[in-house]
Amino acid sequence: MSMEFYTLGNSGLKVTRLALGTMTFGTEWGWGADKDAAWAIFNAYVDAGGNFFDTADAYTDGTSETWLGEFIAERGLRDDAVIATKFTMNLTARTPNSAGNGRKNILRAVEGSLKRLNTDHIDLYLLHCWDRLTPPEEVMRTFDDLVRSGKVRHVGLSDVPAWYASRAQAVAEHRGYEPISVLQLEYSLAERNIENEFVPFGTRYGAGIMAWSPLASGLLSGKYRPSGKGEISGRLETLRGSTNPGFQKFNERNWAIVAALEKVASELGRSMAQVAVNWVTTQPGIASIIVGATRLEQLRDNLGALDFVIPAELRRRLDDVSALQPTFPYSFFGPEIQGSLTGGQTVGGKPAGYYPDLNISGSFAGVS
Ligand SMILES: NC(=O)c1ccc[n+]([C@@H]2O[C@H](COP(=O)([O-])OP(=O)(O)OC[C@H]3O[C@@H](n4cnc5c(N)ncnc54)[C@H](OP(=O)(O)O)[C@@H]3O)[C@@H](O)[C@H]2O)c1
Repeated sequence: MSMEFYTLGNSGLKVTRLALGTMTFGTEWGWGADKDAAWAIFNAYVDAGGNFFDTADAYTDGTSETWLGEFIAERGLRDDAVIATKFTMNLTARTPNSAGNGRKNILRAVEGSLKRLNTDHIDLYLLHCWDRLTPPEEVMRTFDDLVRSGKVRHVGLSDVPAWYASRAQAVAEHRGYEPISVLQLEYSLAERNIENEFVPFGTRYGAGIMAWSPLASGLLSGKYRPSGKGEISGRLETLRGSTNPGFQKFNERNWAIVAALEKVASELGRSMAQVAVNWVTTQPGIASIIVGATRLEQLRDNLGALDFVIPAELRRRLDDVSALQPTFPYSFFGPEIQGSLTGGQTVGGKPAGYYPDLNISGSFAGVS
């Protein structure tokens, strides 16, 4: 495995491209790994050179954070490990202020995470999901207080609207608060919607995108079949009928993607999971990819995802089958409309290396 280090967004923190997701550490939710399996997965990741761990206060009712803290201590890795954890979703909350993104809950949640992780600081603290209520000013000021107090090193946002992230970053910039270093969002061949807003936002304003569910919760490993109900065990089978939008993956569009991916993987002599993770990692604006596993063999498979290049013709097939449908207003940013905004002249945008997608004389992502 190639474990290159990258900086976390515009910060000076160095992280490996593949982060280890620990949402599967613990059996509380019915589809995770027991402690022995989680320990084996953790060790395989560390031994391969990985340094970036993702968890959340809500995962497996706190077991994920607790085991991660224990494992890091057991290997004596606290100084080397980069720990990301999140607040918002307190699944045992019984009162309105013991969940969500208000200052009162953030300050409650951070103490619980520090305790379970058995550490005095969190390297990357993330808002887990927009609560539709708390203004970005309150979140960014609270984040900044936590950084200044030494409890948190860097901050990020997960699962928020792009306008909210943009406002939060502008508030941080203009008020001198700690800026957002990371946007953590779902991204895979089966879920490409972040390309419209978040990739341009992240690349312009210094937030690295950390992609979650690169295998669409296991769908892109190829283990599920359109007619395969009940034939295979796995998270998506266990959660059939779930109302969580992240777990609703069985549909015609995704079966077409799985079929194309299967052919490409076979031509490359690679597993479908490796090709799917490789594709995400090499997409524009993607900084880190969070791989998850319930079994050691799965993690070993996924750790081999960066050892090869997907040739252009095979990549085009994957791009085409999974392409976003042009929707408004993005349909107005292609050459058909934009060409009329430059007096008929070719305007090359910035020199090489600056925002390449701004080159309005060329073709646009998703619009040819
Ligand atoms: N910010 C957020 O809202 C958010 C949301 C979700 C996840 N996350 C983070 O992202 C991490 C990764 O997400 P994810 O677990 O959904 O990622 P994923 O890569 O889409 O799915 C991982 C699951 O797919 C199956 N799998 C993985 N590798 C496989 C292989 N090689 N062959 C066959 N099956 C394989 C396993 O599940 P089965 O064995 O059950 O099939 C595994 O648990 C999480 O641990 C968490 O840290 C963040």
